[in-house]
Amino acid sequence: QSEDTCTTNIILVGPMGAGKSTLGRLLARALKRPFYDSDQVIEDRCGAAIPWIFDLEGEEGFRNRESQILAELTQLQGIVLATGGGAVLRSENRARLMEGGLVIFLRTTVEQQLARTRKSTNRPLLQTANPRQRLEEMRLQRDPLYEETAHLTINTDQRPPRQVVMDIKKQL
Ligand code: S3P
Repeated sequence: QSEDTCTTNIILVGPMGAGKSTLGRLLARALKRPFYDSDQVIEDRCGAAIPWIFDLEGEEGFRNRESQILAELTQLQGIVLATGGGAVLRSENRARLMEGGLVIFLRTTVEQQLARTRKSTNRPLLQTANPRQRLEEMRLQRDPLYEETAHLTINTDQRPPRQVVMDIKKQL
């Protein structure tokens, strides 16, 4: 590994259920780096779960908190960072992520997203009668933003996490 690779942050972006947190944790362990999950940091900082924050402060309130945390975390060095699916919505965040490290877009299918988020009660944007439709709409809006922000795209569909981690390691 080059010296540069050790200090450059690795930042995972992609939609809900792409595997950002799971893969991020594994990747951090494999590379012996600290792991941060921006949603987790927001929850720890607020002492409240994400659905609560959405209820009390609306999506706008959550996005403000998210932008603040991303600004802080991207200042660190040598970390693996898993972001929330909406981290790329604001252009200020996209710029910070892009400058903050190597950004990897984890791409998957709506089918896999549904399977991976099926039991989740922690995702207010999926508390709808038709989560599939919601995910498809979000994909149309957000995929171009993930592509614009990422330096690298990795497919996580139907692939065991360990295999994806090996794939990422090879490309560093
Ligand atoms: C969101 C994704 C969630 C979380 C919040 C909003 C989104 O993170 O940040 O519920 O807008 O896609 P995950 O992608 O980790 O589920």
